[in-house]
Amino acid sequence: MTDCTSFDIAHLGNVELLTAKFEESLWFFRDLLAMRVVAEAGDAGRPSVYLCTWDEYQLYTVKLTASDDAGVGRTTFRATSQEALERRVKAIEATGLGVGWEDGEVGTGPTYSFGDPDGHHMGIYYDTERYVATDDKPALKNQASAFPGRGVNARRLDHINYLAKDVVANGAFVAKALRGRESERIRLDDGGYAAWWFHFNNKSYDIVYSDDWLKHGNRLHHVAFAPDTREDILKAADIFLENGIHIESGPHKHAINQTFFLYVWEPGGNRIELANAGARLLLDPDSPVVEWSQEERKKGQAWGMKTIETFHTHGTPVVRTDLT
Ligand SMILES: [Fe+2]
Repeated sequence: MTDCTSFDIAHLGNVELLTAKFEESLWFFRDLLAMRVVAEAGDAGRPSVYLCTWDEYQLYTVKLTASDDAGVGRTTFRATSQEALERRVKAIEATGLGVGWEDGEVGTGPTYSFGDPDGHHMGIYYDTERYVATDDKPALKNQASAFPGRGVNARRLDHINYLAKDVVANGAFVAKALRGRESERIRLDDGGYAAWWFHFNNKSYDIVYSDDWLKHGNRLHHVAFAPDTREDILKAADIFLENGIHIESGPHKHAINQTFFLYVWEPGGNRIELANAGARLLLDPDSPVVEWSQEERKKGQAWGMKTIETFHTHGTPVVRTDLT
């Protein structure tokens, strides 16, 4: 039931991505997505770079970390207030999946660390430092920094989609511990969900769980960034084509949640989506969940394109039995 605690999370905070091709992945985010490097950490053996999108109001959006495999590190969520943060920490602790408080990274305040049932590493915080533009001051003072005007111009982090061994258990955790509101889901003929979408604000989704056919655990399906328009996504496809980036699917329009999309694999292998919601928002606080059957999903995406095989098999880290 929707109540004031259903708005305890403001939005996804930031995401750590792991890559075995650190320099190539950095080039992808910095040069093709037009993100700005704001800080560095780690050592030569395992460097990390913090990057922010051009309209990110916080100090960073993505932490890119060198690793043996691709995948996702910690995802953070920003609470809407200190009271909301304390409420959510109490709820997380009640699930037995809490880890404890840590110092925040690069501008984020005290962060409570936890995991979801699938083993994805997560954190929640409230205090955050705002980005102050210097040599990238915007012409209009109501945006974080100047429009970069290069590459794909990713404006902001949009959502994350995890692969999970048990979609129902992980979705139930988001609903209970984070008070995520379900927006859409795909019901399997033999019970359970193939995928489950949740939102924290007026966007129709912020976090998604998809069934991991390989039942590996702690894998990433994709992270999505939003440019300004659908047309930016068409141009992005040309930019990725010119730069030798693997285009997996799209540009096209999703049936579920109706977002316009393009999926590519960054050089490290992580699936990255460019997504644009158009004008569609869920303003109804009690918006009923929309459920799709397997039969309905067979019709493919909104305009009929079928979902390709790798969408169900490729995730990061890539596991040996992957069909890709
Ligand atoms: Fe997505």
